Amino acid sequence: MAGIFPLDKKKEALAVYGTDEEAHPGVQQILKMGDFLVGGRISLFDRPAHTDFLEYRLDPKQTRELFQKKNWKRVVAFQTRNPIHRAHEYLTKCALETVDGLMIHPLVGETKGDDVPARVRMECYKVLIDKYYPKDHVLLSVFPAAMRYAGPREAVWHAICRKNYGCTHFIVGRDHAGCSKPDGKPYYGSYDAQLIFDEFTPEEIGIEIYKFEHSFYDKKTGGIVSFKTAPADADQFSVSGTKLREMLRAGQIPPPEITRPEVAQVLIEAMREKAAVSDKS
Ligand code: ADX
Repeated sequence: MAGIFPLDKKKEALAVYGTDEEAHPGVQQILKMGDFLVGGRISLFDRPAHTDFLEYRLDPKQTRELFQKKNWKRVVAFQTRNPIHRAHEYLTKCALETVDGLMIHPLVGETKGDDVPARVRMECYKVLIDKYYPKDHVLLSVFPAAMRYAGPREAVWHAICRKNYGCTHFIVGRDHAGCSKPDGKPYYGSYDAQLIFDEFTPEEIGIEIYKFEHSFYDKKTGGIVSFKTAPADADQFSVSGTKLREMLRAGQIPPPEITRPEVAQVLIEAMREKAAVSDKS
């Protein structure tokens, strides 16, 4: 319906994010918006001009054509806003076992200040795919959207977007698109982004959801497992995000059970560059 509508910021925040707390990065975005919304038919004249990731900026039409050319009938998409660590790699490879192709589809729009910048992440994905993935079955392409950290609702949106890109399956792990409050408590339950799909029929979503439980390196079995596949006496090996950042900042390669050394190297170099720039200023 065309028209101009007043924006009820509190109502929208509660409906989309389940909170109107100003600390939530998605709520902050709403608060930055004007007081009115304009609705109506959209005509696209000029596309945003981009200078980065040009060869990875494929439109839904292009990925669909590419899948057809590659004869990938079943394609799983992996949304990410982080470097791909070993647990992420596990999800993508488990999923790929059951389909023809994997589309690694990192979000490269705006993210929170403490997330790793897209430029650095892209280097991480490239070195990882180069050494650890089967190139014939993997496509790296970017998702030009901003991250809003809406947890479950963002998971539904992420899934539908990837359906539009021609994918048949979409990975949703734990804490998909989640974020934490200033006191460290999460805004959403670990599996809320999976449970929300139960509210829809498969036809309404139109893409199959591959749900994964928390995955980690198990010292007992010597491999990555999930809560679902781990033995009862599993011994989880983990390094906290803070510790991981400390190691990288100190130029130390974290344990290979957590992240591939090639990925760590890219992150170490990016941190060095950042430190050099802030030393100068
Ligand atoms: S997200 O905001 O894009 O969801 P992230 O890049 O960390 O963040 O996660 C990408 C996908 O991997 C999401 O579906 C998330 O739920 C899943 N995921 C991340 N880490 C794990 C883990 N250790 N175990 C299970 N799923 C995970």
